[in-house]
Amino acid sequence: MPDALLEFSGVAYAWPDGRPVFADLSFRIAAGEKVVLLGANGAGKSTLLRLANGLLPPSAGSIAWQGQLLSPSLLRQRDFARSFRQANVLLFQHPEAMLFNPTVREEIAYGPQQLGLADSAARVDRWAAELGLQTLLDAAPFTLSGGQKQKVALACLLALDPQFLALDEPSASLDPATVGWLIDTLLDSGRTLLISTHNLGLAAELGERALILDGNGRLLYDGPLERALGDLPLLQAAGLAHRHRHRHGAATHAHLHVHDWESS
Ligand SMILES: Nc1ncnc2c1ncn2[C@@H]1O[C@H](COP(=O)(O)OP(=O)(O)O)[C@@H](O)[C@H]1O
Ligand SMILES: [Mg+2]
Repeated sequence: MPDALLEFSGVAYAWPDGRPVFADLSFRIAAGEKVVLLGANGAGKSTLLRLANGLLPPSAGSIAWQGQLLSPSLLRQRDFARSFRQANVLLFQHPEAMLFNPTVREEIAYGPQQLGLADSAARVDRWAAELGLQTLLDAAPFTLSGGQKQKVALACLLALDPQFLALDEPSASLDPATVGWLIDTLLDSGRTLLISTHNLGLAAELGERALILDGNGRLLYDGPLERALGDLPLLQAAGLAHRHRHRHGAATHAHLHVHDWESS
């Protein structure tokens, strides 16, 4: 089997306050896969994405990127950190913290410039046009709406031409047109995607494989997305669907139900 692009082996994670999130998490993602990460609120989706992005070190077990163990010392090596930060990117659920440049133009150009790429201006033009940000290029990022900030943050990441793109609940703040654009643009690209959501209505369009967290730090499911979405007991066990009483005229009955909601 070729090396996975990203591999979690027996990963445990506990927050500094001692609260465990994961105890023993193992999965591998091959280059080009489109993976949807599902789990109820608090199941650990954002934590898993931060681990995958090298922002949090596992408390036990290991995470490998292209067969290399992502150790804190490797992440401190300048050459590795540079290529890793370019290739493996994460769009935060609340990306405000990512934006610090005086203008949107400088914000999008920042990453490519840090990498010493000569065509940073062309990259700004390309991704601003793709995401409809042209009229905002001279605006200060902090003056934008939440959804506009999310688009700018996404443009910043795409300007790096990453191989692996993790998106944390993108449909929570992006408008439907942008989510549609994401689906059309990203699913056809060779990029490897790991997208978290608890919006089951959208999940079907975001990928081919599902990883489902059970809410107790374990993987409940790793397999074809379509099969998972048709398995109500599985979705119920993951806290993504629930049994629920309905009144139909005079009759009341209970049945399993899936809700499409997404909170931030
Ligand atoms: N910075 C933090 N410090 C301590 N606990 C945290 C922190 N961030 C998240 N948690 C906890 O970790 C668990 C998983 O959270 P998270 O990964 O954000 O879940 P999800 O993204 O699936 O909603 C939750 O119990 C949450 O309260
Ligand atoms: Mg989250």
